[in-house]
Order: sequence, then structure tokens, then C-alpha cells
Amino acid sequence: MSAADAVDLSVQIGALRLRNPILAASGTFGYGIEFAHLVDLNRLGGFVVKGLSREPIEGAPPPRLCETPSGMLNAVGLQNVGVRAFVADKLPLLRKYDTPVLANVFGYCLEDYVEVIRTLEDAEGLAGYELNISCPNVKKGGMQFGSNPAQVAEVVSAARKAAARRPLWVKLSPLVADIGLIAQAAESAGADALTVANTYPAMAIDTRTLKSHLGNLTGGLSGPAIKPITLRLVWETKKAVKIPVIGLGGIETVEDVLEYLSVGASAVQVGTASFADPRASERLASTLTDALVRTKASRISDLHARFVSENG
Ligand SMILES: Cc1cc2nc3c(=O)[nH]c(=O)nc-3n(C[C@H](O)[C@H](O)[C@H](O)COP(=O)(O)O)c2cc1C
Repeated sequence: MSAADAVDLSVQIGALRLRNPILAASGTFGYGIEFAHLVDLNRLGGFVVKGLSREPIEGAPPPRLCETPSGMLNAVGLQNVGVRAFVADKLPLLRKYDTPVLANVFGYCLEDYVEVIRTLEDAEGLAGYELNISCPNVKKGGMQFGSNPAQVAEVVSAARKAAARRPLWVKLSPLVADIGLIAQAAESAGADALTVANTYPAMAIDTRTLKSHLGNLTGGLSGPAIKPITLRLVWETKKAVKIPVIGLGGIETVEDVLEYLSVGASAVQVGTASFADPRASERLASTLTDALVRTKASRISDLHARFVSENG
């Protein structure tokens, strides 16, 4: 038996078993189907579809994307087909794949989140929900749900009640004073896992015209530029909660994956890297076994155990 044969890449995220810890991230992998001619979806640990809202959304004015040093800004404005069209037109096409599909859910108010989940509860073919709580809460004066522990608890409990059939992951905002407090609020309110984290609010200006590079003026920073910052947030979150943490932010290489798994992520998601290389998540899944062999680990959890013993 070779060293590679002894490696077990599977991970347990609450009730959900993934064949490997590499998922494609929401907003960077469409509804999955668009990538099916390029990527063997069955080789991924899973994927998260574009954020779904109660009604279709056309999104922000162009330009919506702009490159920045070691990263990218986006202001897509939550464009999506709406939850009912997703269930009717997209989900049936995904049922032939043997890969967990998670629906990313967002709303402008608590009732929106609940309504989107209720619609999804009636549909077959989903492995779980990922609640995006980093979007504006219009009804409560433009604050973000995700930055206040009491509001996080409120929206997660409401979603938990609606999501009777399936696991509920909660995707945290990175722009918070103490991510441990937010994570604990989500855990106590019934989250099965936490995804850490979303993009960082940011800007870029064209100095010839002094116009913003984005139609929306501001956007979210993603890509390698954010990796060290989010890596620390994953570590802080891991220390604060007992439920699994899924890390994402700037992952491009298998070494990036090892870093996230070492600080305590049970799985990772790949976002911006899919823009340059649509096969990025499949590539990372297929090179992870050798990377584990090189670090003399045979299971994903060995990496965090070793990190803790090396760093006290
Ligand atoms: C173009 C674009 C669209 C995104 N749309 C969503 C979304 O609908 N819901 C969500 O939770 N995150 C969304 N994200 C955030 C990503 O899922 C991810 O959290 C973030 O980009 C950091 O990971 P990365 O550096 O690997 O891209 C989007 C990111 C990008 C770049």
C-alpha cells in the first residue's frame, strides 16, 4: 500500500459527509451547471450556488469587477434569478451529479431569509443551506445583520426554524470587532457550521477620471490579498466554537488549503481563483492527497492537531 492509499480526504461537517474538503464558493461558480462542461463536479467536495433571494435581482450598474494588487473588487449587487426560478430551472439539472449542492441564501430582512428557505425546503436535491448574513439590513437602517450578535442570533434562529430538513451553515462577515462573539451567537442560535468569511468592503479609483472603478462606487475585496487576514479570523472562530468552520479567502494553491486546514478549518471554499482557472477547485481536490503525504498526515484533522501541538 502506498502512502497515498492511506490518506482519507473525507470530512464530516455536522450531518454532512464530504468526499473531500474542497468546495467551490458562492458567487464564483454560478449555479454549478455552467461549470459542468469544464469541471468534473463529482470530484469536488461540494459547491455553493450564487446567493438566492425571494425575487430575481438585476444587480449593480457596470463595471462590476476590477483587478487590484493580488486581488479583485466586485460589486455584483446580488444579481440572481430568484429562488423560484432556481428551483424550477437550475436545481433539476443538478440532480444527476453526486456532489453536495448548498444553496446560499440572503435577504434584506428576516422575513426574506425565512421565505427563501421555505421555498427551498419543498425542493429535492439540496444538501444544505448557507446563510449569507453580510448583506445590508434595509429595514433596520442599513446595518449589516452580521455585525451585531443579537441580530445574528435573531436571523439564525428564524432560519433554523425554517430549515427543518437540512443543515444550516452561516457565512460570517469579516468586518466585525470580535468574530468569536458573532460565531458564538450563530452557534447558540442553531448553526451547524460557520463559513469564514465573505469579502472586505473596499474601493479603487481611476486617477485619470477620478471615477470609481466600480459602478456601485464600493465593492468587496477578494483573492490572495485577503488570505492572511481571513486565515486569522478562521483561527479565532475555531477557538470560539465547537461546530465545524469552513475557511475561504484567497485560496489558490494547495499550500493555501493546508494553511486553512491547519488553523482549524474542517473544509475550504475556492472563490476568486475560479475566475482565472475554472478548474481550480478540481485541481486542488486532486492534488490534496499528495500534499497530505508530504506533510505526513493521513487525515484532514491531523493538520490542526499538529498545528496546535507545534504552536501551543
Ligand atoms: C463576483 C463575486 C460574487 C460573489 N457572490 C457571493 C454571493 O452571492 N454570496 C456569498 O455569500 N458570497 C459571495 N461572494 C463571496 C465569495 O463567496 C467569497 O466569500 C469571497 O470572494 C472570498 O473568497 P475568495 O478570496 O476565494 O474569492 C462573491 C464573490 C465574488 C468575487
